[in-house]
Amino acid sequence: MSEAARNEWEAREEICQVGRRLYDLFLVAGNNGNISVRLNEREILMTPTHVSKGMLRPEDILKIAPDGALLEGRSGLKPSSEYRMHLAVYRHRPDMHAVVHAHPPTATGFAVAGRGLERVFHPEMAISPGPVPLVPYVPPGGDELPESLVPYLAGHRALLLGNHGAVTYAPTLREALFLMESLELNARIYLTAVQLGHVNYLSDEQVAFLRDRYAPVAAR
Ligand code: 13P
Repeated sequence: MSEAARNEWEAREEICQVGRRLYDLFLVAGNNGNISVRLNEREILMTPTHVSKGMLRPEDILKIAPDGALLEGRSGLKPSSEYRMHLAVYRHRPDMHAVVHAHPPTATGFAVAGRGLERVFHPEMAISPGPVPLVPYVPPGGDELPESLVPYLAGHRALLLGNHGAVTYAPTLREALFLMESLELNARIYLTAVQLGHVNYLSDEQVAFLRDRYAPVAAR
């Protein structure tokens, strides 16, 4: 097996592991969510549509080109209905190599309430995922969603999608998964503070200090 083939197989296996983890953590349910990895400038691995991401096999993952053309896939399987959103991230963020889309319940609750998570109430929210803006609702599955994301892609690693869910992107798939987990955890922390009746936000100086201290790992 060539090194490229081995890397690709490992990426396929990692997509299956991440899908299972999203499913087990209840960040997706049923057939929700999608995952991709950019192998190189010509090839992107993409999860199939209408398949549970908790029950994927490496051979189920499809391969598409940056223009969306299908390069490889098992018969009967089609790329995720959100493949255009993943391609838009790769087009506008050449430094990113993995995208995760899920419906984390508490974070998505904020997106349904029309709220982002932009003010910093926890050190993680200054660093990773960093402030998470709300992208206003557009219908999923077409060109509207990728177009709506474009103005928000720079300077963030996680976005809330109005009335829909969340998307995270990173140089590696593991990081994109961790950003999704961290977004959901921070949404729960924030909601708890709101229910307790008060949120102590960190000041601009405290946030600047954290970003400086953790500059190498801070989301950009
Ligand atoms: P796909 O199964 O087509 O990837 O869609 C799942 C989803 O969650 C769309 O938002």
